[in-house]
Amino acid sequence: MLDTLLAIAHHILIFALLGLLVAEMIWVRDGIPAATMKTLIRVDGIYGAVAGLTIIVGICRVIWGLKGAEYYLHNLFFWLKMATFVLVGVCTVPPTLAFQRWRKALAGDEGYLPSSGDIAKVRRWLRAQLHLFVLIPIFAALMARYSGYITF
Ligand code: HEM
Repeated sequence: MLDTLLAIAHHILIFALLGLLVAEMIWVRDGIPAATMKTLIRVDGIYGAVAGLTIIVGICRVIWGLKGAEYYLHNLFFWLKMATFVLVGVCTVPPTLAFQRWRKALAGDEGYLPSSGDIAKVRRWLRAQLHLFVLIPIFAALMARYSGYITF
């Protein structure tokens, strides 16, 4: 039962993460209105919180999942999945820093608009996240079905 509940939570959180990331991708455009920028900054905080919950639920699945932690800790695909998730996390840093700069600029000037260069840079990081994100379910499916046993 616990395994099923954790699996359900895991999948819902993953869909939420993807939805929030796609929303950011759609909103970050040249000429983004101030109101959208404020929503975007809030959504980026929610994205971070959902990522945190995904990590917690994921770790719970490793510990209390039906297969047991040993199965995952020696599974190559599990570590590839974790490494990809960490890379996604690294790619969230520059956009979040940019959003915080925009928030401060907006507080001083309601008509503030990020430069085209700034927008393009943030979009590149968001696109990188989306591309890496696609790899995670691939590694997840492999890890669930093949032991990919590694010793260390
Ligand atoms: C720290 C983060 C994460 C941990 C520790 C974790 C751990 C796990 C575990 C233990 C399972 C169960 C696999 C099995 O049935 O044997 C699982 C399944 C799955 N995970 Fe994650 N996960 C994490 C993040 C993610 C993310 C970010 C995504 C998607 C982008 C994801 C996608 C999936 C999918 C699609 C499955 C189902 C695989 C299948 O049954 O075919 N996980 N995860």
